[in-house]
Amino acid sequence: MADSVPMAGIVKHTLAMLRAPQNAVAFTVRSRVRWSRGIAELNNESKERLFDHLPTPRWAEAEAEESSLRARYGLDALRGRSTCVAYAENLAMLASLERLCGELELPVGGDGALRAVDVGCGAFAYATALQRFLARGGRGPARQAILRGVEIDGHGVYRDGHSRADYARAHAALAGKEAHFQVGDFTALPIPEQDLVTMWFPFVERFSLLQWGLPLSLFDPRRLMQRAVATVRVGGVLLVANQTESEAAQVVSLLRGLPVKHLRSTSIASDLVPYSARTAGRIGSLWRRV
Ligand SMILES: C[S@@+](CC[C@H](N)C(=O)[O-])C[C@H]1O[C@@H](n2cnc3c(N)ncnc32)[C@H](O)[C@@H]1O
Repeated sequence: MADSVPMAGIVKHTLAMLRAPQNAVAFTVRSRVRWSRGIAELNNESKERLFDHLPTPRWAEAEAEESSLRARYGLDALRGRSTCVAYAENLAMLASLERLCGELELPVGGDGALRAVDVGCGAFAYATALQRFLARGGRGPARQAILRGVEIDGHGVYRDGHSRADYARAHAALAGKEAHFQVGDFTALPIPEQDLVTMWFPFVERFSLLQWGLPLSLFDPRRLMQRAVATVRVGGVLLVANQTESEAAQVVSLLRGLPVKHLRSTSIASDLVPYSARTAGRIGSLWRRV
Protein backbone atom coordinates (compact mmCIF):
# COMPACT_ATOMS: atom_id res chain seq x y z
CA MET A 1 0.00 0.00 0.00
CA ALA A 2 2.84 2.34 0.96
CA ASP A 3 4.21 2.04 -2.57
CA SER A 4 0.90 2.39 -4.37
CA VAL A 5 0.67 6.19 -4.22
CA PRO A 6 4.08 6.93 -5.75
CA MET A 7 3.56 4.05 -8.22
CA ALA A 8 0.20 5.53 -9.27
CA GLY A 9 1.95 8.88 -9.66
CA ILE A 10 4.67 7.39 -11.83
CA VAL A 11 2.11 5.61 -14.03
CA LYS A 12 0.07 8.83 -14.39
CA HIS A 13 3.15 10.84 -15.34
CA THR A 14 4.35 8.20 -17.78
CA LEU A 15 0.95 8.09 -19.47
CA ALA A 16 0.96 11.87 -19.70
CA MET A 17 4.45 11.83 -21.28
CA LEU A 18 3.21 9.28 -23.83
CA ARG A 19 0.57 11.79 -24.87
CA ALA A 20 3.17 14.40 -25.77
CA PRO A 21 3.52 13.60 -29.51
CA GLN A 22 -0.24 13.30 -29.94
CA ASN A 23 -0.74 16.64 -28.14
CA ALA A 24 1.80 18.27 -30.44
CA VAL A 25 0.06 17.10 -33.62
CA ALA A 26 -3.45 17.91 -32.38
CA PHE A 27 -2.41 21.39 -31.18
CA THR A 28 -0.73 22.17 -34.51
CA VAL A 29 -3.80 21.04 -36.44
CA ARG A 30 -6.32 23.01 -34.36
CA SER A 31 -4.13 26.13 -34.33
CA ARG A 32 -3.92 26.01 -38.14
CA VAL A 33 -7.60 25.20 -38.76
CA ARG A 34 -8.75 27.94 -36.29
CA TRP A 35 -12.22 26.42 -36.13
CA SER A 36 -15.13 28.63 -35.08
CA ARG A 37 -18.90 28.17 -35.27
CA GLY A 38 -19.52 31.75 -34.26
CA ILE A 39 -20.09 33.15 -30.80
CA ALA A 40 -21.62 30.49 -28.55
CA GLU A 41 -25.07 30.74 -26.98
CA LEU A 42 -24.59 30.44 -23.21
CA ASN A 43 -26.82 27.89 -21.48
CA ASN A 44 -28.69 28.83 -18.38
CA GLU A 45 -29.59 26.60 -15.43
CA SER A 46 -31.84 27.33 -12.49
CA LYS A 47 -29.85 28.49 -9.47
CA GLU A 48 -32.44 27.13 -7.02
CA ARG A 49 -30.18 24.32 -5.86
CA LEU A 50 -26.84 26.06 -6.25
CA PHE A 51 -25.54 25.00 -2.86
CA ASP A 52 -26.97 21.48 -2.66
CA HIS A 53 -23.44 20.14 -2.35
CA LEU A 54 -23.02 21.93 1.01
CA PRO A 55 -24.11 20.59 4.38
CA THR A 56 -27.54 21.99 5.32
CA PRO A 57 -26.29 24.25 8.17
CA ARG A 58 -24.09 26.11 5.66
CA TRP A 59 -26.90 26.82 3.13
CA ALA A 60 -28.23 30.05 4.61
CA GLU A 61 -24.74 31.50 4.93
CA ALA A 62 -23.79 30.55 1.36
CA GLU A 63 -27.04 32.01 0.03
CA ALA A 64 -26.39 35.26 1.93
CA GLU A 65 -22.88 35.35 0.50
CA GLU A 66 -24.28 34.82 -3.01
CA SER A 67 -26.78 37.67 -2.69
CA SER A 68 -24.20 39.99 -1.23
CA LEU A 69 -21.70 39.27 -4.03
CA ARG A 70 -24.47 39.54 -6.65
CA ALA A 71 -25.55 42.95 -5.37
CA ARG A 72 -22.06 44.36 -4.89
CA TYR A 73 -20.64 43.16 -8.20
CA GLY A 74 -23.72 43.33 -10.43
CA LEU A 75 -24.06 39.63 -11.24
CA ASP A 76 -27.71 39.51 -12.36
CA ALA A 77 -26.92 39.09 -16.06
CA LEU A 78 -24.47 36.32 -15.26
CA ARG A 79 -26.92 34.59 -12.93
CA GLY A 80 -29.48 34.60 -15.75
CA ARG A 81 -27.13 33.15 -18.40
CA SER A 82 -24.88 30.58 -16.79
CA THR A 83 -24.66 26.98 -15.73
CA CYS A 84 -24.60 26.37 -11.98
CA VAL A 85 -20.92 25.44 -12.08
CA ALA A 86 -19.93 28.53 -14.07
CA TYR A 87 -21.92 30.81 -11.75
CA ALA A 88 -20.48 29.15 -8.64
CA GLU A 89 -16.97 29.53 -10.11
CA ASN A 90 -17.56 33.25 -10.57
CA LEU A 91 -18.76 33.54 -6.96
CA ALA A 92 -15.75 31.57 -5.74
CA MET A 93 -13.41 33.80 -7.74
CA LEU A 94 -14.93 36.95 -6.23
CA ALA A 95 -14.65 35.51 -2.72
CA SER A 96 -11.01 34.57 -3.42
CA LEU A 97 -10.22 37.99 -4.81
CA GLU A 98 -11.75 39.67 -1.76
CA ARG A 99 -9.68 37.48 0.52
CA LEU A 100 -6.50 38.08 -1.44
CA CYS A 101 -6.79 41.75 -2.33
CA GLY A 102 -9.75 43.18 -0.44
CA GLU A 103 -7.50 45.64 1.41
CA LEU A 104 -5.35 46.50 -1.58
CA GLU A 105 -5.76 49.73 -3.49
CA LEU A 106 -5.88 48.41 -7.04
CA PRO A 107 -3.40 50.17 -9.33
CA VAL A 108 -4.85 52.51 -11.96
CA GLY A 109 -3.28 54.48 -14.79
CA GLY A 110 -3.03 58.25 -15.11
CA ASP A 111 -6.55 58.42 -16.58
CA GLY A 112 -8.01 56.62 -13.55
CA ALA A 113 -8.73 53.41 -15.48
CA LEU A 114 -7.30 50.02 -14.60
CA ARG A 115 -5.94 47.96 -17.49
CA ALA A 116 -5.44 44.25 -16.93
CA VAL A 117 -4.51 41.11 -18.83
CA ASP A 118 -5.48 37.61 -17.76
CA VAL A 119 -2.87 35.16 -19.04
CA GLY A 120 -4.20 31.76 -20.17
CA CYS A 121 -7.86 32.50 -19.58
CA GLY A 122 -9.19 29.23 -21.05
CA ALA A 123 -12.86 29.66 -21.97
CA PHE A 124 -12.91 32.81 -19.83
CA ALA A 125 -16.00 31.62 -17.93
CA TYR A 126 -14.94 33.86 -15.04
CA ALA A 127 -14.71 37.03 -17.18
CA THR A 128 -17.60 38.67 -15.31
CA ALA A 129 -16.18 38.03 -11.83
CA LEU A 130 -12.72 39.22 -12.76
CA GLN A 131 -13.83 42.33 -14.64
CA ARG A 132 -16.28 43.30 -11.89
CA PHE A 133 -13.73 42.86 -9.14
CA LEU A 134 -11.20 44.98 -10.99
CA ALA A 135 -13.85 47.66 -11.45
CA ARG A 136 -15.38 47.60 -7.97
CA GLY A 137 -13.14 45.61 -5.64
CA GLY A 138 -10.22 46.51 -3.42
CA ARG A 139 -9.90 49.68 -1.37
CA GLY A 140 -11.11 53.02 -2.69
CA PRO A 141 -13.75 54.14 -5.19
CA ALA A 142 -14.96 52.17 -8.22
CA ARG A 143 -13.04 52.66 -11.46
CA GLN A 144 -13.21 51.80 -15.14
CA ALA A 145 -11.55 48.39 -15.62
CA ILE A 146 -10.52 47.14 -19.04
CA LEU A 147 -9.74 43.44 -19.03
CA ARG A 148 -8.22 41.36 -21.81
CA GLY A 149 -8.12 37.56 -21.63
CA VAL A 150 -5.40 35.85 -23.68
CA GLU A 151 -5.49 32.15 -24.49
CA ILE A 152 -3.02 30.25 -26.65
CA ASP A 153 -5.27 27.24 -27.24
CA GLY A 154 -8.46 28.88 -28.46
CA HIS A 155 -9.48 26.46 -31.15
CA GLY A 156 -10.13 23.22 -29.32
CA VAL A 157 -13.62 22.10 -30.32
CA TYR A 158 -16.27 21.28 -27.73
CA ARG A 159 -18.99 18.64 -28.11
CA ASP A 160 -21.49 21.17 -29.46
CA GLY A 161 -19.11 22.13 -32.29
CA HIS A 162 -18.18 25.49 -30.78
CA SER A 163 -14.55 26.28 -30.09
CA ARG A 164 -13.09 27.45 -26.79
CA ALA A 165 -12.73 30.90 -28.34
CA ASP A 166 -16.45 30.90 -29.30
CA TYR A 167 -17.23 30.41 -25.61
CA ALA A 168 -14.59 32.82 -24.40
CA ARG A 169 -16.03 35.54 -26.64
CA ALA A 170 -19.52 34.82 -25.31
CA HIS A 171 -18.30 35.05 -21.71
CA ALA A 172 -16.43 38.27 -22.44
CA ALA A 173 -19.54 39.74 -24.11
CA LEU A 174 -21.66 38.80 -21.10
CA ALA A 175 -19.14 40.55 -18.83
CA GLY A 176 -19.66 43.78 -20.79
CA LYS A 177 -17.88 46.05 -23.22
CA GLU A 178 -14.82 46.40 -20.98
CA ALA A 179 -13.94 42.69 -21.32
CA HIS A 180 -12.11 41.38 -24.37
CA PHE A 181 -10.71 38.06 -25.50
CA GLN A 182 -7.85 37.23 -27.80
CA VAL A 183 -6.37 33.96 -29.02
CA GLY A 184 -2.57 34.08 -28.94
CA ASP A 185 0.66 33.23 -27.21
CA PHE A 186 1.04 35.69 -24.35
CA THR A 187 4.84 35.44 -24.57
CA ALA A 188 4.78 36.57 -28.21
CA LEU A 189 1.91 39.08 -28.40
CA PRO A 190 2.74 42.79 -28.43
CA ILE A 191 0.87 43.72 -25.24
CA PRO A 192 1.46 47.19 -23.78
CA GLU A 193 2.27 47.60 -20.07
CA GLN A 194 -0.64 46.86 -17.77
CA ASP A 195 -1.64 47.97 -14.29
CA LEU A 196 -2.40 44.38 -13.38
CA VAL A 197 -1.63 40.94 -14.79
CA THR A 198 -3.49 37.90 -13.52
CA MET A 199 -2.59 34.23 -13.99
CA TRP A 200 -5.15 31.70 -12.81
CA PHE A 201 -3.45 28.32 -12.59
CA PRO A 202 -0.54 28.74 -15.02
CA PHE A 203 1.27 25.51 -15.85
CA VAL A 204 4.36 25.18 -13.71
CA GLU A 205 4.50 21.40 -14.09
CA ARG A 206 4.87 19.43 -17.33
CA PHE A 207 2.31 16.89 -16.21
CA SER A 208 -0.56 19.42 -15.93
CA LEU A 209 0.28 20.96 -19.29
CA LEU A 210 0.25 17.54 -20.98
CA GLN A 211 -2.99 16.57 -19.29
CA TRP A 212 -4.56 19.79 -20.57
CA GLY A 213 -3.62 18.68 -24.12
CA LEU A 214 -0.79 21.09 -24.89
CA PRO A 215 2.53 20.17 -26.52
CA LEU A 216 5.68 20.06 -24.39
CA SER A 217 7.21 22.78 -26.59
CA LEU A 218 4.88 25.24 -24.83
CA PHE A 219 6.23 24.38 -21.39
CA ASP A 220 8.39 27.33 -20.40
CA PRO A 221 7.08 28.65 -17.06
CA ARG A 222 10.15 30.83 -16.46
CA ARG A 223 9.61 32.65 -19.75
CA LEU A 224 5.89 33.00 -19.02
CA MET A 225 6.61 34.53 -15.61
CA GLN A 226 9.32 36.81 -17.03
CA ARG A 227 6.91 38.06 -19.65
CA ALA A 228 4.14 38.53 -17.08
CA VAL A 229 6.43 40.61 -14.87
CA ALA A 230 7.67 42.64 -17.85
CA THR A 231 4.06 43.37 -18.81
CA VAL A 232 3.20 44.87 -15.41
CA ARG A 233 4.12 48.54 -15.19
CA VAL A 234 6.30 49.65 -12.27
CA GLY A 235 3.95 50.03 -9.28
CA GLY A 236 1.44 47.63 -10.84
CA VAL A 237 0.48 44.22 -9.52
CA LEU A 238 0.90 40.59 -10.59
CA LEU A 239 -1.64 38.12 -9.21
CA VAL A 240 -0.93 34.39 -9.45
CA ALA A 241 -3.30 31.62 -8.43
CA ASN A 242 -1.99 28.07 -8.00
CA GLN A 243 -3.63 24.73 -7.37
CA THR A 244 -1.22 23.56 -4.68
CA GLU A 245 1.35 24.75 -2.18
CA SER A 246 4.07 23.05 -4.20
CA GLU A 247 3.04 24.96 -7.37
CA ALA A 248 2.95 28.20 -5.38
CA ALA A 249 6.48 27.46 -4.11
CA GLN A 250 7.62 26.95 -7.70
CA VAL A 251 6.17 30.32 -8.63
CA VAL A 252 8.15 31.91 -5.79
CA SER A 253 11.31 30.39 -7.19
CA LEU A 254 10.44 31.35 -10.79
CA LEU A 255 9.93 34.95 -9.70
CA ARG A 256 13.21 35.07 -7.74
CA GLY A 257 15.53 37.64 -9.26
CA LEU A 258 12.73 39.34 -11.20
CA PRO A 259 11.74 42.92 -10.32
CA VAL A 260 8.78 42.11 -8.06
CA LYS A 261 8.16 42.37 -4.33
CA HIS A 262 5.97 39.81 -2.61
CA LEU A 263 2.92 41.49 -1.08
CA ARG A 264 0.96 38.53 0.31
CA SER A 265 -0.15 34.95 -0.22
CA THR A 266 -3.32 33.36 1.07
CA SER A 267 -5.50 30.30 0.68
CA ILE A 268 -8.14 30.72 -2.01
CA ALA A 269 -9.95 27.46 -1.27
CA SER A 270 -13.71 27.74 -1.66
CA ASP A 271 -16.71 25.61 -0.76
CA LEU A 272 -19.00 27.59 -3.09
CA VAL A 273 -18.10 25.26 -5.97
CA PRO A 274 -19.34 21.66 -6.01
CA TYR A 275 -15.76 20.34 -6.29
CA SER A 276 -14.66 22.23 -3.17
CA ALA A 277 -12.36 19.42 -1.97
CA ARG A 278 -10.22 19.94 -5.07
CA THR A 279 -9.76 23.61 -4.22
CA ALA A 280 -8.38 22.87 -0.74
CA GLY A 281 -4.72 23.48 -1.66
CA ARG A 282 -5.29 26.57 -3.79
CA ILE A 283 -3.11 29.56 -3.03
CA GLY A 284 -3.17 33.08 -4.41
CA SER A 285 -0.23 35.44 -4.30
CA LEU A 286 0.22 39.13 -5.03
CA TRP A 287 3.40 40.75 -6.27
CA ARG A 288 4.20 44.45 -6.71
CA ARG A 289 6.31 45.34 -9.76
CA VAL A 290 9.31 47.38 -8.63
C1 LIG B 1 -4.69 25.41 -16.21
S1 LIG B 1 -5.31 26.31 -17.53
C2 LIG B 1 -6.19 27.59 -16.66
C3 LIG B 1 -7.28 28.22 -17.49
C4 LIG B 1 -8.03 29.31 -16.77
N1 LIG B 1 -7.14 30.34 -16.29
C5 LIG B 1 -8.87 28.76 -15.64
O1 LIG B 1 -8.54 29.00 -14.47
O2 LIG B 1 -9.89 28.11 -15.92
C6 LIG B 1 -3.91 27.23 -18.15
C7 LIG B 1 -4.22 27.91 -19.47
O3 LIG B 1 -3.11 28.66 -19.90
C8 LIG B 1 -3.05 28.58 -21.32
N2 LIG B 1 -1.68 28.96 -21.73
C9 LIG B 1 -0.54 28.26 -21.54
N3 LIG B 1 0.50 28.91 -22.07
C10 LIG B 1 0.01 30.06 -22.62
C11 LIG B 1 0.59 31.15 -23.32
N4 LIG B 1 1.91 31.19 -23.57
N5 LIG B 1 -0.21 32.15 -23.74
C12 LIG B 1 -1.54 32.13 -23.49
N6 LIG B 1 -2.15 31.11 -22.85
C13 LIG B 1 -1.39 30.09 -22.41
C14 LIG B 1 -3.41 27.14 -21.59
O4 LIG B 1 -3.79 26.87 -22.90
C15 LIG B 1 -4.55 26.94 -20.59
O5 LIG B 1 -5.79 27.26 -21.14
